[in-house]
Amino acid sequence: MRQTLIVANWKMYKTLAEAEEFMERFTGEIAGVSGIETVICAPFISLARLSVLMERTTLLLGAQNMHWQKEGAFTGEISPLMLRDLGIKYVIIGHSERRLHFNESNLLIKRKVASAFNFGLIPILCVGENWEQHSSQETEKVIKEQLFSALEGFTLENEFMTKMVLAYEPVWAIGTGTAARGEEANAVAGFMRSLLQEKWGGISEKVRILYGGSVNADNITEFTGKEDLDGALVGGSSLNVETFAGLLKAVFNERRA
Ligand code: 13P
Repeated sequence: MRQTLIVANWKMYKTLAEAEEFMERFTGEIAGVSGIETVICAPFISLARLSVLMERTTLLLGAQNMHWQKEGAFTGEISPLMLRDLGIKYVIIGHSERRLHFNESNLLIKRKVASAFNFGLIPILCVGENWEQHSSQETEKVIKEQLFSALEGFTLENEFMTKMVLAYEPVWAIGTGTAARGEEANAVAGFMRSLLQEKWGGISEKVRILYGGSVNADNITEFTGKEDLDGALVGGSSLNVETFAGLLKAVFNERRA
């Protein structure tokens, strides 16, 4: 049984004071919600403070990116060691915004995934097609290329292979207000499981797969209720306490129904 996972990706939003204010109110707001693993991927400057504020909660902390090296002369970068040291559990890798705006290649993403495994961080590896690829029915081709290149050479001996999280984030659905349909996202997640099965057999049923792209409190259960999807990666709707708490409550209530 795969546990439901909801991940907030705050992207480049919130000052430290805003992050603190969110956390102080959020924990009270979701007091009645249980059984959903919830991760907040905040900007780097807020991570140290949030790790303290989240100590007595069930919430987990994630980063949105990292360098692949332990340390070195890499001006402006943050290392996996620094993240682990803060008690961070998850790190988003290969988000389409990093692929697009920061030229992250499949090779770079593979290095980062390997580094996350080495440092005991769980990568949330993002894959997804853009609108042009979607329109020309290239979704499966793109997903296969992104997934296999990021995971090339890893074997089942690496315990993190089963712990890793995959996120299907169609680029055309991110920040547009137009989410993929639940059925559509579930079909791609099923395809991703078949790729895992092809290369790594048994892990295909263990790895959690999230959907991301214009998820909100009204449509979240379209995704969490599907066979091959285990939760969501949430951008805009995770920024506001009431909205994000509402989304978690919707999942919680669906579980109880
Ligand atoms: P939105 O939920 O704002 O569409 O963002 C999705 C996303 O990119 C999460 O990583």
